[in-house]
Amino acid sequence: MAKLIDGKLYAEGLRKRIAIAVAELKRDHNLIPGLAVVLVGEDPASKVYVANKAKQTVEVGMNSWEHKMPADTSEADLLAMVQKLNDDPSVHGILVQMPVPKHIDSAKVLNTIDPAKDVDGFHVVNVGRLSTGQDALVACTPTGCVMLAKDTLGDLSGLNAVVIGRSNIVGKPVAQLLLTENCTVTIAHSRSKDLASIVRGADLVIAAVGRPEMVKGDWIKLGACVIDVGINRIERDGKNKLVGDCDFASCEAVAGSITPVPGGVGPMTIACLLHNTVKAAAAIKGVKLPEM
Ligand code: GUN
Repeated sequence: MAKLIDGKLYAEGLRKRIAIAVAELKRDHNLIPGLAVVLVGEDPASKVYVANKAKQTVEVGMNSWEHKMPADTSEADLLAMVQKLNDDPSVHGILVQMPVPKHIDSAKVLNTIDPAKDVDGFHVVNVGRLSTGQDALVACTPTGCVMLAKDTLGDLSGLNAVVIGRSNIVGKPVAQLLLTENCTVTIAHSRSKDLASIVRGADLVIAAVGRPEMVKGDWIKLGACVIDVGINRIERDGKNKLVGDCDFASCEAVAGSITPVPGGVGPMTIACLLHNTVKAAAAIKGVKLPEM
């Protein structure tokens, strides 16, 4: 049976360290990091995410602003909101919740955010910095995955890592981070030929494909570390259930360690967002970043 990787516990610890760092910045530099979140439209899941972000931002002692805009907001009005936040010196982090309504070009919105305030790490400048090994604000879920993998395995150097999924939000950035950790990285996806045999070679599996329970236990190398990024709502036996991209029961029987869903990667995302906001605030103010 695999060791369970407790992302909820790790995220709690990280948030405590962030709260201490925030208190230090306040005391030593009169700096209160601030995060502005913009939500366009009424997507119920997005509303829950945004409310959780605001709550945890306040809990660690930072300033939080929520800007709710109607679903029919024009692209120009959203870009103007982003520009206003770029120009506001009390705002150090800006997050526009995705997805935005279809009539808005999401790439244009993300690339309008000041890269210094881009705590999602989605701006092309931060993506380019990450992929060229320069200091960058890095996307939150990938950062959380690598934190959990390192906490579980120690040094990742030389490991075969297989990333399943190639999204801009998780697959591509997590592959870049794993390269930085000196892994041998394979990026597979839903169209890869013989996915099972690719995954069988992995010491570390990152499943971020968005298909419920797609990865089966007989794909997993004995003792491998499995990080499951999937959050899929399914109905089973007449009940709604959250499941990952891995078939938990069969993978758990073979893996050395595995993240549960929920309680694995999920709680890490917001903790890493707060981490990025503190990092952005210290960099913008030109002060040393406290240990976290
Ligand atoms: N929607 C789902 N995940 C994310 C995320 O990490 N950032 C933003 N901005 N929107 C999301």
